[in-house]
Amino acid sequence: MNTFPHIPRERLPALLAAMPKAELHIHIEGSLEPELIFALAERNRVSLAYPSVEALRAAYAFTDLQSFLDIYYAGASVLLTEDDFHDMAWAYLRKAAAENVLHTEIFFDPQTHTARGVDIGIVIRGLKRATVRARAELGVSAELILCFLRHLSEDEALQTLEQALPYREHFIGVGLDSSERGHPPEKFARVFARCRELGLHLVAHAGEEGPPEYIRNALDVLKVERIDHGVRCVEDPALVRRLAQERVPLTVCPLSNIKLRVFGEMHQHNLGELLAAGLVATVNSDDPAYFGGYLNQNYLETFAALPLDASHAYTLARNSFEASFASAEDKARWIERLDQLFDEFR
Ligand code: ADE
Ligand code: ZN
Repeated sequence: MNTFPHIPRERLPALLAAMPKAELHIHIEGSLEPELIFALAERNRVSLAYPSVEALRAAYAFTDLQSFLDIYYAGASVLLTEDDFHDMAWAYLRKAAAENVLHTEIFFDPQTHTARGVDIGIVIRGLKRATVRARAELGVSAELILCFLRHLSEDEALQTLEQALPYREHFIGVGLDSSERGHPPEKFARVFARCRELGLHLVAHAGEEGPPEYIRNALDVLKVERIDHGVRCVEDPALVRRLAQERVPLTVCPLSNIKLRVFGEMHQHNLGELLAAGLVATVNSDDPAYFGGYLNQNYLETFAALPLDASHAYTLARNSFEASFASAEDKARWIERLDQLFDEFR
């Protein structure tokens, strides 16, 4: 039922852009625009395999997750100094502020950088400086989530955790990303158990390209609090019922799913189905510099292609706050601002 009948469909684009929202699935290395890649390459005298910004952008034609990851890790090779990490995150946070993002939980991939000899402290300090600045200068609340690369070993993940522990107060949780197929959640049982003991929040990518079983094992073995993507849950109706009952949030990334061919076209995306099943679905950008748009573009293209109305917009924005790891007070304050916007909107 549309609980906002006074907001007509033609007002949806303005509503989607204006509504306060949170972003819970953004890889900061995936916000690195080609222009900044070239600027940092020049600053750090790193050579790139592409002669120009245009040539690099032209290579952004992906056939699956792995074809994207190969170019995404190559792009991140220009990041060397604390300022580089700050500048990348600051560019994203300014865009987020302009899109009415009030809160964001940012993934970063330390192993992509430590493997090139960059100290993990450089990575974390640079990112953290941008998040502190975002609160002060943009009024945006921003937290960091350290992701382990699942194509590497669990021992390497454990080593990375040890390296990160001197900076424990700078990140709120851990995640699991990179190549999903063939790297099931249970491969990381020990490191997630250790993170749980440390009081870190836990999330994992599951059910993007991998089967519903990976979603189950992320919940049962890793004990994650949110599932990143999770769109393949619909292949298992009992799992969908469980996700709804336990109110496990899914951080869905519509433009990513189209670019990486999880769905053929946007009108085939299952976001509407997930909401109809009562799941706590949210909309996110994943790797906005690579997939054709930031958070608002994800909302706009999804609503243009699917039969979604203002009540769906409200639910998605509200879910984004409720699914976040922010305090109950912050969530209530943000939801009040959301309610106000919907009251005012005509
Ligand atoms: N790393 C960056 N984006 C990712 C995605 N969509 N899936 C898995 N790993 C990622
Ligand atoms: Zn992702």
